Amino acid sequence: MDLSTNYMGLQLRSPLVASASPLTGELPQLLALQDAGAGAVVLPSLFAEQIEAETRRHNAISIAGAASSPEARSYLPEPDEYQLQAYQYLDLVRCASSKLEIPVIASLNGATEASWTDYARQIEDAGASALELNIYFIASDLSLSGRDIEQRYLNIVHAVRQRVAIPIAVKLSPYFSAPGHFALELAAAGANALVLFNRFYQPDIDTARLSIRNNLELSRSSEMRLPLMWMAILHGRINASLAATTGVHTTDDVVQYLLAGADVVMMTSALLEHGPGHLRTLVDGLAAWLDSRDMHDLDRIRGMLSQRNIARPEDYQRANYIKILQGYETTPGRHAVPPTVRHL
Ligand SMILES: Cc1cc2nc3c(=O)[nH]c(=O)nc-3n(C[C@H](O)[C@H](O)[C@H](O)COP(=O)(O)O)c2cc1C
Repeated sequence: MDLSTNYMGLQLRSPLVASASPLTGELPQLLALQDAGAGAVVLPSLFAEQIEAETRRHNAISIAGAASSPEARSYLPEPDEYQLQAYQYLDLVRCASSKLEIPVIASLNGATEASWTDYARQIEDAGASALELNIYFIASDLSLSGRDIEQRYLNIVHAVRQRVAIPIAVKLSPYFSAPGHFALELAAAGANALVLFNRFYQPDIDTARLSIRNNLELSRSSEMRLPLMWMAILHGRINASLAATTGVHTTDDVVQYLLAGADVVMMTSALLEHGPGHLRTLVDGLAAWLDSRDMHDLDRIRGMLSQRNIARPEDYQRANYIKILQGYETTPGRHAVPPTVRHL
């Protein structure tokens, strides 16, 4: 079975990629993911805040050195504010890239175009095969317009594109009024791939303690639907590879994303839950699924159910929304029923 895949110019042996998480920050786990059949791995992000903290510390050391004041050193920030310092991150990129046979994708996570984008070059020099940019940004500044925010993303992509020659992927939020048009703009600005979508970790409220609770919940398969829809809409219409992230737990989830048009399918929650070996289950499951349909490579299924390739493109549009609402069946005598929608 040929599961080989081209992802933003990188040749992968399988379309299953381990996305950024603590699991991809340790060499033994990276090797286990490679053994389990991963086509590539994305390292955990180096955050702009980590880089900026390190820069502040270096500046403080030089000022203290120039003043030759031993007491000044007691005021310097300690470097334990963040788990991984920028130089340690470069070591991780260097080590993973030299020890793994599969492509290693590094990840930079920031919100504004600033000095952290300079790290892109250092990451490239450290041996990364590609760079994923996670532009995590909540637009809580109410003076910013949608266009301001889009421009911020485009500026970051432009800045990084000028600094590196390796492929760049942009891990994108779904919260744009026209994600499709914006995706085209990102590709024109130099993004070689789009990763749909960034999963935001919103706080909730603890009503007993009257405080904000920031707890991380792993994903479920049902969260696939939004990225799946945009994957299907964008497939074949954009000059960039498409990576699906969010909600991949089973072989069926992998196949769904490929049918919608994903070039690669990424996973984190399922690997954190079941360990790196789970990736092998899904690679084997995908091969078995194809084999049972007498298909021998992924080209046969990739994008088969994308908007461009289906008889009724409105299934991904408003017309389907109306039919789904109208097709909801209630059961007499019951108030709450599972939404069983007839196949329309
Ligand atoms: C514990 C944890 C840590 C993560 N760290 C990062 C990170 O450093 N950078 C990043 O871009 N995404 C990070 N993610 C997001 C994942 O890469 C992934 O996009 C998200 O979990 C959705 O995929 P899933 O449904 O397979 O979990 C993290 C997710 C989890 C659960």
